[in-house]
Amino acid sequence: MIATWLTREFGIEIPVLGAPMGGRAGGELVGAVSAAGGLGLLGAARYNSAQWVADEAAKARVGGPFGIGLMTWSLDGDTSLLDAAIAEKPALITLSFGDPAAYVERVHAAGIPVVSQINTLDDLRVVEAAGVDAVIAQGAEAGGHTGRIGTLPLLQEILESTTLPVLAAGGIGTGRGLAAVIAAGAEGAMIGTALLASPETTGPDYARTRVVEAGSADTVYTSVFDRARSQPWPQRWGGRAIANEFTSTWEGISADEETLAKAYDPSDPNNGVVYAGEAVGLVHGTHPAGDVVRRIGADADRLLSRFS
Ligand SMILES: Cc1cc2nc3c(=O)[nH]c(=O)nc-3n(C[C@H](O)[C@H](O)[C@H](O)COP(=O)(O)O)c2cc1C
Repeated sequence: MIATWLTREFGIEIPVLGAPMGGRAGGELVGAVSAAGGLGLLGAARYNSAQWVADEAAKARVGGPFGIGLMTWSLDGDTSLLDAAIAEKPALITLSFGDPAAYVERVHAAGIPVVSQINTLDDLRVVEAAGVDAVIAQGAEAGGHTGRIGTLPLLQEILESTTLPVLAAGGIGTGRGLAAVIAAGAEGAMIGTALLASPETTGPDYARTRVVEAGSADTVYTSVFDRARSQPWPQRWGGRAIANEFTSTWEGISADEETLAKAYDPSDPNNGVVYAGEAVGLVHGTHPAGDVVRRIGADADRLLSRFS
């Protein structure tokens, strides 16, 4: 199997991180990714509690080493989720979307490496100054909240500009994608969307069905779901979701939060959110997460061995 900084640093077999997906990546998914030879990360959303982190970490641990992903901006003013994450002694913590300078030392003091997803070259300079151990170039194709630069241009730019280990995220859903970013110089990939139809994910049943049915042209980059759910995301990060009746009605319309909240219905696939990236077009069935990770690793290995 391909050996990179990522596999050596964390003692894993496959250079894949399972993305920390708020609302979708709980302990069962994370444990399955890690048991398969990758490294899964719990996605702690702003609305999760310290107890949630402890409960899901206990489930994840069954699969081996695991990580925890937090949204940096959501820690400003309340670090209880960070404290809860550190207490679980994960193999790594990701601090993404914001300047992690105020938190890196605390995580390092517990002997835990910090990795940040970044969306621009300016973000790279911010997280380098904060002292993170590695970065993940997260492209606009990614599911969930992300930036506006595509994975490939961003990855090339970041690889040219830092001595830190660099991973790629956004649009990597098969061994071809993993092989491509490793061939470009990345130490591995973080994958989210490719896992979203797996039975180990949490969330409504319709979310898995929508992911299987949707094609790569069916996503939209939007903030309407944040506004409908009063999620105080900083304006620069929109979220990539599967387009539905809600987005075709409200995206680009200047409606107030109250109107959007009334129209939003999480129990209805037409008016609830399913965050997913352009790699959704590569997901054709509800396969166990371990099978997805092993398949991506084996296919990438085979493709890369053509040149060895
Ligand atoms: C449903 C969903 C929820 C997400 N939630 C988070 C999150 O809470 N924290 C985070 O750092 N990234 C989050 N992300 C982004 C992922 O960490 C990652 O960048 C992305 O899934 C990679 O692109 P891909 O979806 O094309 O594989 C989320 C992604 C998805 C699809």
